[in-house]
Amino acid sequence: MRLKTSRNGTVLMPDRGLDSTGVGEILARLTLQEKAALCSGQDFWNLEGVPRTGVPSIAVADGPHGLRKQRHTQDGFVQSSNVPATCFPTAVTLASTWDPDLLREVGAAIGEEARAEGVSVILGPGVNIKRSPLCGRNFEYYSEDPYLSSVLATAFVRGVQDMGVGTSLKHFAANNQETRRFSINAIVDERALREIYLASFEHVVKAARPWTVMAAYNRLNGPYCSEHPELLTGILRNEWGYQGLVMSDWGAVNQRVAGLEAGLDLEMPGLKNGRDGEIVEAVREGHLSMEVLDWAVERVLTLVSKAAATGLAPDDYDRDAHHHLARRAAGEGAVLLKNEGAVLPLTSDLSIALIGAFAKSPRYQGGGSSAVTPTRIDTAYDAIARRVGAGAMLTYAPGYDPKTDALAPALIDEAQQVAQEAEIALVFAGLPAFYETEGLDRQHMAMPAQHNSLIEAVAEVNPNTVVVLMNGAPLEMPWQVKVPAILEAYLGGQAGGAAVARLLYGEVNPSGKLAETFPFRLEDHPAHAFFTGGPRTVEYRESIYVGYRCYDTADKPVLFPFGHGLSYTTFSYTDLRLSASQMHDDGEIDVSVTITNTGTRAGREVVQLYVHDVESIVFRPTQELKGFAKVSLEPRKSTTVTIALNRRSFAYWDTGLRDWRVEAGEFEIRVGASSRDIRAVATVEVRTTHPRRPRVPEGDRLAEYCDLNGDTAFSRGAFAALHGRPLPANLPERRGEHTLNTPLCDIQGSLAAWLLRIVMRRQASTAISEDPDSPMARRAQEMLEEMPLRMWLLQAGGGVTPEVLGGLLELLNGRLIQGIRVILQAIRNRPS
Ligand code: BGC
Repeated sequence: MRLKTSRNGTVLMPDRGLDSTGVGEILARLTLQEKAALCSGQDFWNLEGVPRTGVPSIAVADGPHGLRKQRHTQDGFVQSSNVPATCFPTAVTLASTWDPDLLREVGAAIGEEARAEGVSVILGPGVNIKRSPLCGRNFEYYSEDPYLSSVLATAFVRGVQDMGVGTSLKHFAANNQETRRFSINAIVDERALREIYLASFEHVVKAARPWTVMAAYNRLNGPYCSEHPELLTGILRNEWGYQGLVMSDWGAVNQRVAGLEAGLDLEMPGLKNGRDGEIVEAVREGHLSMEVLDWAVERVLTLVSKAAATGLAPDDYDRDAHHHLARRAAGEGAVLLKNEGAVLPLTSDLSIALIGAFAKSPRYQGGGSSAVTPTRIDTAYDAIARRVGAGAMLTYAPGYDPKTDALAPALIDEAQQVAQEAEIALVFAGLPAFYETEGLDRQHMAMPAQHNSLIEAVAEVNPNTVVVLMNGAPLEMPWQVKVPAILEAYLGGQAGGAAVARLLYGEVNPSGKLAETFPFRLEDHPAHAFFTGGPRTVEYRESIYVGYRCYDTADKPVLFPFGHGLSYTTFSYTDLRLSASQMHDDGEIDVSVTITNTGTRAGREVVQLYVHDVESIVFRPTQELKGFAKVSLEPRKSTTVTIALNRRSFAYWDTGLRDWRVEAGEFEIRVGASSRDIRAVATVEVRTTHPRRPRVPEGDRLAEYCDLNGDTAFSRGAFAALHGRPLPANLPERRGEHTLNTPLCDIQGSLAAWLLRIVMRRQASTAISEDPDSPMARRAQEMLEEMPLRMWLLQAGGGVTPEVLGGLLELLNGRLIQGIRVILQAIRNRPS
């Protein structure tokens, strides 16, 4: 076996996985071909089985907020072929609940549905950090903060796995943009990687032991994540002690044998187009040791044996109970952003103008592989209509066409008309479905002009305008000062409409808090100029200053801060106490605070704890979330919340030590209702066993790296110094340089490229959307342009072999004769 070494020379040894007698015995009976076959799926959604030895084939399915099981195994992403399942609120909404118990319940419900459908592993949760508000998959991820993501994802994984169904923690790692996601090289400095981008994976792996981890599409500081020895073996297995299976994202494998050596056990989906042969050949020719292959097979068999131990319960779950759980989660996850003059809650005697097509056709989830086919849909219109009293009036105007973003002045006039005749104007607005989908990032943070104009027009004629937003990520709100109330309902799942009505009428008291910052403008973040990167690399020039870590350190005003969310009641924070005034870094300290409901309604409050390092030799964010608790209180009742802090709560990643380090000294413990609403502060002195070291270079160059108020604060030179390695070039590819990893959009100006484009477009429009002129289909075609050639294998099925692709590549690189020769040869060699 060839041992890999990491950058600092440490040997990277894969662990042996969970061995059990059964697994060991089966392994011993498998042929080389069978072993190779087990390392990739049987098709899109099933693993390979070996009937001869009694190894069954098990099924996997998306996704993070509900089961997306396809009826036919070869159906890639055809939504019409999904089995109906409960569509829970998406991750952004679940995260805004700040309620790990609730996430565990949702996880368990999804696990139950998976079991009922014979699915052994759920492909989620996604714990990638929201580096920018524009990432097209932000709705599928929890937060801009790794601590919050960690705690919530841990609960979700436990919930699913409590049911005997596995999870796949994804997308490992630094998959923070959709643009060129199949090929982009994320350039991330080591501190940002450890403190921000790997932290949630680390926590969940250690605390909840997900059955599988999914390697991301992108490259990370050079290698593809799916063949990254340092990531998949050095960090994940050797450092964090992960014993489960690593699978690829769908089509993420570049070099299969290099992937196996790096620690990628399973390639998904199974293409059965020659990759197994590559493994067999590599073993026979001594390029891959049998031992490495055995480790991977052992982990596949261990996964199958865990799955086989779960009794399946066909069709056995309570659809109503799950729908009600989805409604509760949507209610807990909606965030009351503004409520001036206590316009909300509403009473049934008020006449209502209900405006906005989302009231009748809600946005309730995002697009892409996570899109669930719901068992039913509650609309806000129906739920509100039931609440408007007999003497009061309810009128409706659509205001816009939810399928486009074109201005519709006649619809806005009609809305203004109904708004001025009602006591309350409720406007449902946000982002149309094609704005938020896997595979594409947003280009800006604005709502469609028609939604903005509609809100402005309605607010002009009705001072009691309440805006309800349905979207999966932050928006600019140019009209926010003109309306008294805003409810961010996010993407609420199939019961979101009913949940909104309960909140608006005060049957549920809002308790959601933002798990992300809403800046005034996109330009407020110094990283905006570096998102999205490309064509080859994206430099994470803001380093650790992501989300509130940036805004709070730079003291920039924001529209709504991280952790913000109002209630119909109020809470006081008193009596902040620490269990000791000093803490040794190998110990723990308890922080307690008394919360009192000072209003007149029962409510729930999310108590947040931020740590501030008073003086530091390295650059650090001014404060970081290190604990939180959600409490329920009747009016005038109090409770004491206790949050434990440990060594990690105070630590930063020391690049010299290559480990977590706590700097001795004073730390402020800040407790509050949002990152900008700190209600009480105490100080603890932390002592450490590490001797105080001389000032580190990063600390010396603090100002150079971190001029957070500058427009493009992080110069390339400063970032290169921080990264400690030369930054790779970021130039477009030229003809002659193309490889199978080249995205289609980088190949221009040849007959072969033109033909390829026509074929791919045709495939995309039939596979993804039935209506080729819809905005969604147009966006699907944009996505296709970013697909590297090797992924065409996925789209094209068995017809295209790696040899044919090789010939095509010659043609695309301008080597006509060689290309034709290779293709003809490949056709001749095809098995009949
Ligand atoms: C997505 C994954 C998903 C997989 C299977 C990929 O394109 O990135 O999140 O689980 O497809 O649908």
